[in-house]
Amino acid sequence: MKVIKTVGVVGAGTMGAAIAQKIAQEGFDVILADRAMNYIEKGLGGIRTMLDEAAERKVMTKEQAEAVLKNISGTDKLSDLKSCDLVIEAIFENFDAKVSLFRELNSILPGDCIIASNTSSYSIGELARVVDRPSRFIGMHFFYHAAKNRLLEIIPGKETSAEVLEAAREFAIMAGKDPIECSDRNGFAVNRFFVPWLNESVRIFEEDIASKEVIDEVCCKLFGIGMGPFALMNATGVPVAYHSEKTLETFGSLYKVAPLLEVQALSGKPWELNNGGEQQSKSPVPAEVDSVIRERMLSVVFFVCSQIFDEKVCSAAHLNRGARIGLRWRKGPVELMKIQGVKEVKRLVELAAKRYRMDVPLSVKEDIWVIKTVSLAVNGENAVITMDDPESMNALNVDSVRQLEECFDKAANNPSVKTIFITGSGKAFVAGADIKFFVNNIKNKKIEDIESFTASGQAL
Ligand SMILES: NC(=O)c1ccc[n+]([C@@H]2O[C@H](COP(=O)([O-])OP(=O)(O)OC[C@H]3O[C@@H](n4cnc5c(N)ncnc54)[C@H](O)[C@@H]3O)[C@@H](O)[C@H]2O)c1
Repeated sequence: MKVIKTVGVVGAGTMGAAIAQKIAQEGFDVILADRAMNYIEKGLGGIRTMLDEAAERKVMTKEQAEAVLKNISGTDKLSDLKSCDLVIEAIFENFDAKVSLFRELNSILPGDCIIASNTSSYSIGELARVVDRPSRFIGMHFFYHAAKNRLLEIIPGKETSAEVLEAAREFAIMAGKDPIECSDRNGFAVNRFFVPWLNESVRIFEEDIASKEVIDEVCCKLFGIGMGPFALMNATGVPVAYHSEKTLETFGSLYKVAPLLEVQALSGKPWELNNGGEQQSKSPVPAEVDSVIRERMLSVVFFVCSQIFDEKVCSAAHLNRGARIGLRWRKGPVELMKIQGVKEVKRLVELAAKRYRMDVPLSVKEDIWVIKTVSLAVNGENAVITMDDPESMNALNVDSVRQLEECFDKAANNPSVKTIFITGSGKAFVAGADIKFFVNNIKNKKIEDIESFTASGQAL
């Protein structure tokens, strides 16, 4: 497998600079390229400010911040990227601009250099066609702010080789990211349900069901987030939401851009929020309004997620992780589905299907909502068991211990396996058991459940 040491990032804008910073922080040599040195200076200036703030907040020492900067060099010549093992493209979201950049990179980079695109909306397979060997091309979709947000969607194109996919997975972990894998469909996994979620909030407002502030407040409680959809659109830019939804319209009428979203995006102004984007309206939200907003928002999320499973865009575990890590939802859509139960999820999905005259997705089934947090891979004499729950530090719970037992049994019963390795995905391994489990059981006086859980852990 290709070992990645030197990484080129093309485009020193919002995403490229933050990607370069994060990778440099993790010890990689980074070459940041842009059209001219003034763009590089701007990008490096932003990185310097971020690192200074980190040093002030004592997240890192001044010496560490300086060492990060030393890992990054800037250039306005693509030929300087020749020494890279991986080049990540993060230029404007313009198909022709990307195609002509990839043509140029194709002729400059050595044959074994992996080429990745951070595109949000173009097909990885289509972009890959530009290079001589599409097997070395892959999608790596970072999330804003790329130096802080740990989520990374890895998108193999039709022709991406298994070695390149493996190298991308390994790189993601070494670069301090929590990767999820998605197929090459518009919106990949997270934007596919997140952007329609934003769009639905605009429709609810448009239909005069509630004010923007009330919609934000209900959503904050329902999804366990700090900012509702309107405050979020203001933070990341209303046009970004509009353009992203536009690229999803091909999936059918549920995805059609809300007229008011278009008007607002074209006005170039943020949404006017009476409380300046802060949550908590003064008077309590009337129960019937609260319930309509909840029903509408959940039905869109559940409908789209069920379509994601129909189309095999990504696994339930990865989809859930995408929301928790990338969007900071307290509970991901799959956890929300499990809480609602299959009957209610079915009702909500059918409601969305009827409202938007679309076919009901087939994957409204509990056996699809499996959040696997332990995996087993056998390679000859070696079995590798991976604790795959990087968003939970205390990842041992009744479910994961049961999955660990199953994986150990399978590995132990495999006659070819001589060694079992146990490791963790993401940066952390496992700090311990889920404290909430103990607290809840003590509160509910169910000490025997604690005893049987700890006994099974000891036995394991
Ligand atoms: N902004 C986000 O939240 C976000 C999130 C995920 C993915 N993305 C994707 O990341 C990419 C970059 O977005 P951004 O927001 O950082 O854009 P940006 O406008 O902030 O930066 C783009 C940079 O690319 C440079 N550039 C343009 N053409 C170039 C070329 N031919 N060669 C070298 N440099 C060139 C520009 O000078 C600019 O510095 C887009 O594909 C976007 O869809 C953006």
